Amino acid sequence: MTQARESAECTWKSPSNIALVKYWGKRDEQIPANPSISFSLDRATTETSVKAVNRSNDGGISLNFTFEQQPNAAFEEKLKAYLTKAAREFTWLEQYHLDIASSNTFPHSSGIASSASAYSAVALCLCTLHEEITGNKLQDFYRKASTWARIGSGSACRSVYGGFTLWGKTPHLENSSDEYAVGIDHLIHPVFQTLKDTILIIEKGKKAVSSTAGHALLKHHPFASTRYRIAGENTAHLLAILKSGDLDAFVELVEAEALMLHALMMTSPTPFILMKPNTLAVIEKIKDFRNQSGIRLLFTLDAGANVHLLNTEHDNDQVQYFVRNELIGYCQNQSYFCNSVGKGPVQITT
Ligand code: PMV
Repeated sequence: MTQARESAECTWKSPSNIALVKYWGKRDEQIPANPSISFSLDRATTETSVKAVNRSNDGGISLNFTFEQQPNAAFEEKLKAYLTKAAREFTWLEQYHLDIASSNTFPHSSGIASSASAYSAVALCLCTLHEEITGNKLQDFYRKASTWARIGSGSACRSVYGGFTLWGKTPHLENSSDEYAVGIDHLIHPVFQTLKDTILIIEKGKKAVSSTAGHALLKHHPFASTRYRIAGENTAHLLAILKSGDLDAFVELVEAEALMLHALMMTSPTPFILMKPNTLAVIEKIKDFRNQSGIRLLFTLDAGANVHLLNTEHDNDQVQYFVRNELIGYCQNQSYFCNSVGKGPVQITT
């Protein structure tokens, strides 16, 4: 290989995303058991800088990693294992020393999933550095970034685009793939393009069961095949809803998906519960608010206790008033985090 550069560096800021049809269950290297649909968040982001400096080729990955200006041995080890896999494609990785610095715009250990923003930011950096170091343009930059983000953490592959994204092969979307996500923003009705997501921090800190362990439990889950069938149907149904702008159908489907995710956890061969009493209390309050006001406020859940409140931009003032007056007391340290549908990753140039 011809080395075009002694050193190269780049910085990407990439978002987290929230799934509406959930990915839960996988095989091989993050090949999903069913398709999923999400949208990118505008404020929950990770900013990652990678500096690559040519070194004598002694094999292996040479890496220094800091998270929020501090060395972090646990993250460094995970990243090293990931970059060892990435060197299969980005062969120059073993000939460069890497300094990687990363930070989040949301509080660490807030219970907001960070692997999607973290791995999408790293994968985007790898793609940019690849072009700079080899001098070869990637054929499809974002597909490649999505593929490598997926290998870091499945849901991360949906974070390389702005707006709405679909990941996983489905007969209902022609260019869909298990290997990478595709942007579907051009299919989305305007009412959904400015959705708000208020994340209520019900519980900070590390989850009792990681999503890696959760996915693994699907292998011998009594309801796995039924779940995969329903997730496929929900993907088709949600695509139609997102096109038509049918808010009532959106509420019904998205809440059912969130509850099914948690029902799968509770019915795993080794059952576990990630919701907390305040998660359920907030869900009850949301339903009451919706029934009394007629405002289509709905919830979804990640693999954790926090609640994502979704509503249209039009209803946002009333929803925020409701959050401040009636929901804040259920949040740990009264914390919540307001997001909207985001425009996707940005490369930061200095
Ligand atoms: O990407 P992972 O392995 O952290 O799995 C994420 C799974 C959920 O967040 C629960 C659902 C999803 O589709 O994002």
